[in-house]
Formats: sequence, C-alpha cells, structure tokens
Amino acid sequence: MSPAQKTYTVAVAGLGKRGLHHAQAISTNPRFRLVGLCDIDQARLDAARTKFGVAIGQTDAVRLLADTRPEVFVFCTLPQVRLPLIRAGVEAGVKLIAYEKPIALSTNEALEMYKLLRAAGVKTVVSHQHRYGLHYQKVKEIIAGGALGRVHTVYGQATGWMMHMMTHLIEYASWYNDYAPAEWAVGQAAGKEKFADVHSSPDYIAVVAQFANGVRGVFECGAGAPDVPEVEAWWRKCRIGAQGTEGFAEVLTGGGGAGGGWRAVTKDGILSGPGGMDYDHDMPPYIQDIADWLDDPNMVHPCNGETALKGFEIMMAACRSAVRRGKVTLPLGPGEPELEALQKALP
Ligand SMILES: NC(=O)c1ccc[n+]([C@@H]2O[C@H](COP(=O)([O-])OP(=O)(O)OC[C@H]3O[C@@H](n4cnc5c(N)ncnc54)[C@H](O)[C@@H]3O)[C@@H](O)[C@H]2O)c1
Repeated sequence: MSPAQKTYTVAVAGLGKRGLHHAQAISTNPRFRLVGLCDIDQARLDAARTKFGVAIGQTDAVRLLADTRPEVFVFCTLPQVRLPLIRAGVEAGVKLIAYEKPIALSTNEALEMYKLLRAAGVKTVVSHQHRYGLHYQKVKEIIAGGALGRVHTVYGQATGWMMHMMTHLIEYASWYNDYAPAEWAVGQAAGKEKFADVHSSPDYIAVVAQFANGVRGVFECGAGAPDVPEVEAWWRKCRIGAQGTEGFAEVLTGGGGAGGGWRAVTKDGILSGPGGMDYDHDMPPYIQDIADWLDDPNMVHPCNGETALKGFEIMMAACRSAVRRGKVTLPLGPGEPELEALQKALP
C-alpha cells in the first residue's frame, strides 16, 4: 500500500470540548480510523463511543493504548495531565502524539516529556490550530510578502489568562517572525486570584522577548491586557501581529458570532477583511497535516511540538524573570517550578 493510501489508527483520551473536536475531525478524515476512546468520566466516554461508533472504550489511558495499539495517540486533558500520558504513548510505541496546549505546567515537566519523546523518536503536534484561520493566514501573507518593510516587532495580546492564551499568542507571533529563536525574555506579573484556576496563572503577565533576528516580541495576557473592542466574545479578544518600517498587519481572533478579522496599514493603503476563529474550519486541515507528516517526514506539521516547546519556553522564561528579576536567557534548563515560584513571589 502506498503511503498516500494508508489509514492511520487513532486513540483519543479526554473527551471534553477539545477531545470531541479532535474525534470529530479524525472520524471524518478517510486517512484515519478511530479505534478507541478514553475518559475518566464514564458518562462522557459512553456518549462519545455512541456518537462516533467506536467499540473500545476505557477509563484508563494506559489500558486504552494496550487494547488498541494505535499509531496516533491524541489526548485533550486539562493542563494537569501531560507527562503521564506522554509516557503512556511512548511506552505503547505510538508514532505520533497530538495533544493540547499548554505543553506542561513547568519547564521541568516539559523537559522530561521531550526527553522521552526524542529518545523514542515519537513525533508530537500541539494544538495551536488557530493558524488555519484565513484571517491568521492573510496576516502571514502580508508580512511574508514584504509589505511591512523590515519587521522589527511582533506582538500578541489577550484578555484571557496566561495558561489559556499565552502560548497561542507566542506561537502565531513567532510564525509571523519565521520562527526565529528567542534569545532572552523579561517578564512582570500581577495578581494571584487565577492561580486557583485549572489553568493556573497570574492574573496578568507582560513579556518582552528578544528574537535572534533582531525582532522584539511583546506579549500581554489576562486582566489588564488591552481590550479588543472590535471582538465581542471575551475569550476571543486577541490581537496578534507585526510592525515594520512601512506598516503593520494584525489579526483579531474573533469568531463565534461577532467581530474578528484582519487589518493592515502599509504603503499600499489601509486594508482589512473579515474572519473569525472557527473550530469546524480549523480542525480538518490540522488533522490532515498529521497524515501528511506521517506519510512524509519532510512535511513537518506546522503545529509540531518542538516549535511549540520554544514558545512555551518564552512564557516560562518570563515567569522566571518575574520571580528573579532581570533577563532570562534561553533555552531553559531545569529549575524551580515556575507557577509555584511565581505565586510565592507575587505580593
Ligand atoms: N486549542 C484550542 O483552541 C483550545 C481551546 C480550548 C481548550 N484548549 C485546551 O484543551 C485542553 C482541554 O480543554 P477542554 O476545554 O476540552 O477541557 P474539558 O474539561 O472539557 O475536557 C477534559 C476531559 O479530560 C478528561 N480527563 C481528565 N483526566 C483524564 C485522564 N487522565 N484520562 C482521560 N481523560 C481524562 C475529563 O474527564 C474531561 O472530560 C486544555 O489544556 C485547554 O487549555 C485548547
């Protein structure tokens, strides 16, 4: 069978909002076969098995993997469950693990995860799938076409808090900056209320990052980040873009009803267009790119885990900076778990 015809088997663990998005896109793509489902919540598991017509269901991911021996393991659990499921996937011999952002709760955890993955040669994909939105891509096209002149700054802002939103912002801004590596980051944070959330975070964080190509990154998340009044849906009030010597271009995430789109001011004038984040639009190509990468190692997934790890490191470097003060140089080694350290350090 030629690789183009091969069907890859997939097991999905964590069947909440995002797990169902993944299962839906996988079950409608002929390149994949959904062979097993898992959730610790029996009612969610039963409902998903019925919805997708999948025979094998387990409340334990290790048993799911043993029962189904899939080529692809997808997990969409909350951020507290990462390293054990990466280990389970690696030990079960899967080829690729696709999982949700944020990568981990700490640098230590992320380093441990990637040590296991690299040693076993397992590919990873992290769900920063907003980039498939046509408005996100329009901004990339404008920047890559040179209409901004020399790009000197990339930026991202979201009113949603750090562990929900920041790696999205950094990922897309890094894409707009051709994924130049970051050299250092400086961060400052405020407020401890959101540390109690399942996406444990400071209430507000500001990050300045220096990229090796001379471009500066500026990111803000949480209560106190600038509003994006053009977008109504609170979680989608994100503005990500680039400024250069001859203009700027930016995307407003939006979607889900009202607002969103892209805009640019360049030497060609003032330009804008519609757009909105839409899971139904963004998930199918995200899933298809997994098949393409498994078919051909040169077709690296745009949301590959090694790139996502670099964005995660910028966020964690900023947390370390808020604790220790000063610049934190990248890449990061092991250290005090960032969220706990930050919670202790903030007044
Ligand atoms: N990429 C995006 O656009 C996007 C959007 C929303 C959420 N997310 C991320 O997706 C992740 C999941 O969010 P959600 O909104 O789907 O959460 P959710 O609470 O709806 O679903 C999580 C599911 O995981 C299950 N679960 C927990 N531990 C498990 C385990 N050990 N084994 C199997 N199942 C387990 C829970 O019972 C629950 O059903 C989070 O990390 C979140 O940040 C990403």
